[in-house]
Amino acid sequence: MIVKDADFVTSSTDVEKCPKSQLPEYAFIGRSNVGKSSLLNMLTGRNSLAKVSGKPGKTRLINHFLINKEWFLVDLPGYGYAKISKSESEKWEKFIRKYLLTRQNLYCVFLLVDSRHEPQKIDLDFMEWLAEKEVPFVIVFTKADKLNKTEFEVFQAKYAEKLLESWEEVPQMFTSSSDKGIGRDEILDFIEHLNKS
Ligand code: GTP
Ligand code: MG
Repeated sequence: MIVKDADFVTSSTDVEKCPKSQLPEYAFIGRSNVGKSSLLNMLTGRNSLAKVSGKPGKTRLINHFLINKEWFLVDLPGYGYAKISKSESEKWEKFIRKYLLTRQNLYCVFLLVDSRHEPQKIDLDFMEWLAEKEVPFVIVFTKADKLNKTEFEVFQAKYAEKLLESWEEVPQMFTSSSDKGIGRDEILDFIEHLNKS
């Protein structure tokens, strides 16, 4: 798919304030600093469309971007950011979960996982929750540029093995590097396919 247009639409504090639309929508979720906003910029080819930061906790709202006037990409705040108060992180989590449960036009969630880390409980728990709630999702391993090919293969095999301890089959998995443009075509093709379904 060619991304001709990518426009910021709105930032919402609540799912009720999100754009009223039936267009297909795809949301990026994952730990703070995993690279959600960077992936959005990489896919759209717009370097500063979504705000990126070396400091976790940059994205704080539900951010809608309209792509090719046909579908939405949504940048969400990350979870698991230790440096905010418990009550604030609970508030965030509640509003993210509410968005994921109630957004009718949400076609698929991209759950981002940093390729450099062992499987983390917080991500595994989140996947389990998505599955339980029947929210369709796929995994994207980010920052693949930080590993060499063999290291990445070992990482991915270990991750799949971990998932298979509690799952019958592994969810679909993508590899990405926002620095190197890895995974762009695969993810856009996947979205294009779902848009047509
Ligand atoms: P929050 O909004 O805080 O939840 O973070 P986020 O998940 O949106 O992460 P963001 O895109 O802001 O990126 C966090 C940091 O990781 C930044 O310093 C990025 O430059 C870096 N980063 C993101 N993607 C990649 C990647 O593919 N490769 C490398 N090497 N660095 C990356
Ligand atoms: Mg962000």
